[in-house]
Amino acid sequence: MSPVNTCTLSLQLTISVVFKPMLRFLLFNALGFASDPLDRSGGSSGRASPVSLPDDDSVEDHPLSIDLGSLAISTTELYKESLYAKIGVDVSRKLRSQFVEDRLNLDYEPQMDNHLYQPTPLENMSLTTVVYKGHQSVVFGVAERPDLLIKYEVQCTDFDIEVHPILRDGWYMKEASEGGLAPKVLFISPPSFLCEEKKGKCEYFRMSRASFSRCKTDNGIVRYLIMKRVDGITLEALRTYPRYGRRNGAMHLYNAAQLTRELVRYLQVLHKEMKIVHGDIHTSNVMFAQSPSSTRLYLVDFGRAFRLRTDLPEIPKVQRMEWNQIMNTQWQIDGYEWAARDDLNKAIQLFAHLMNSREYHTLERQIEQQGIPAIRVWKERSDWFITDDYDPVEALGASVSLSAKKEIKQAFRRILRTVRNLPINGPLPYASIIEDLTICCYLSNNITTTLAPTIA
Ligand SMILES: Nc1ncnc2c1ncn2[C@@H]1O[C@H](COP(=O)(O)OP(=O)(O)OP(=O)(O)O)[C@@H](O)[C@H]1O
Ligand SMILES: [Mg+2]
Repeated sequence: MSPVNTCTLSLQLTISVVFKPMLRFLLFNALGFASDPLDRSGGSSGRASPVSLPDDDSVEDHPLSIDLGSLAISTTELYKESLYAKIGVDVSRKLRSQFVEDRLNLDYEPQMDNHLYQPTPLENMSLTTVVYKGHQSVVFGVAERPDLLIKYEVQCTDFDIEVHPILRDGWYMKEASEGGLAPKVLFISPPSFLCEEKKGKCEYFRMSRASFSRCKTDNGIVRYLIMKRVDGITLEALRTYPRYGRRNGAMHLYNAAQLTRELVRYLQVLHKEMKIVHGDIHTSNVMFAQSPSSTRLYLVDFGRAFRLRTDLPEIPKVQRMEWNQIMNTQWQIDGYEWAARDDLNKAIQLFAHLMNSREYHTLERQIEQQGIPAIRVWKERSDWFITDDYDPVEALGASVSLSAKKEIKQAFRRILRTVRNLPINGPLPYASIIEDLTICCYLSNNITTTLAPTIA
């Protein structure tokens, strides 16, 4: 063990045994936290609180290597100083602040070996329903708090170039929630290691046993976040929802255009006011919620989000082969820095997905298998909306006039031209896209039983 590590270990023990309770007491009282700062429902008093330090410059003064109370995790997560050069100023600053919070929340580490139980600063939680099982993530419902969800995720690789995805998710979702665009985030946990075997909560990760073992060997790190549960469904589920969608997933053009128009409005606020790029817009990361008084969207999954920049290089970086997938934009495939324009381009890709049947994904996979030249033609020149298999405009039937259909197709062409010629730094044409989507709504509005309500 190196001298630095020995020192860290003894410091850790001192903090854990002697200083941790005192530090926590002082912090809670000095900063005057409510028991649950983001929960407007009142919550019970007397519970411990998630620690959230003010976002001021004082956190810059903390050294890079702050003890987390777990030696091995400290070395994995903290001693890669090269990480800070890769992640940019905003994320570096948030990370330093997070390390301070982590140190104060050691009692709430992810309990991975236990299926159902998780101590958290809000309360001890019993996890009942599994809402979603991802490759490296799992989202649970909470028995004591049906209004909350808890999302666990493991980072297996890239520790020297990327922060844990739950951190981006929690930080930027919290900011976006302050602008009313996303669910509230109540807590981001400190890190822990994976389970010894693929049991307990680890059983729910969809990764294979081989991937799990590799991740375990590479000291994969788990964190969780607690967020408000959206009382709604994803746009992916809405496609087949009886009232608004169709069994094959091809939503009526009117509903697809309404939802996409609202999404573009959300992106306009996210980019221009919150200065955040979501980074992963697709039908499973946008939720639709309806109550008697309102109908609205929520953006979820900010695991690839980042602070918007207006000084990005106008030439591509080195191409990263992993972004040569059909879900990526033409600029991501070409190796440009990710930017707000990618969100807007993907929003229109989502529009095409919503109005087409799920067979469309088979078509996309076939194009992907043909390789980069075919993907580029698809991204830059092909008709995303009307394919040989399905024509959502003709599907409107005889109650929409031929001239209206022609105008819708013209609006489609304008939208595609617009989102294929977006600047990397310049202002984005949200208004003209919204206008063309409004034309699509107006001209395709021949539905009665499947009518989506106007979104405020
Ligand atoms: N706040 C929320 N309220 C309700 N449902 C949610 C919420 N957050 C996530 N979900 C559900 O859980 C699913 C997975 O969440 P999320 O996209 O954050 O996980 P992920 O592991 O990052 O997903 P991916 O597979 O895209 O990487 C969502 O598609 C949605 O169905
Ligand atoms: Mg997702």
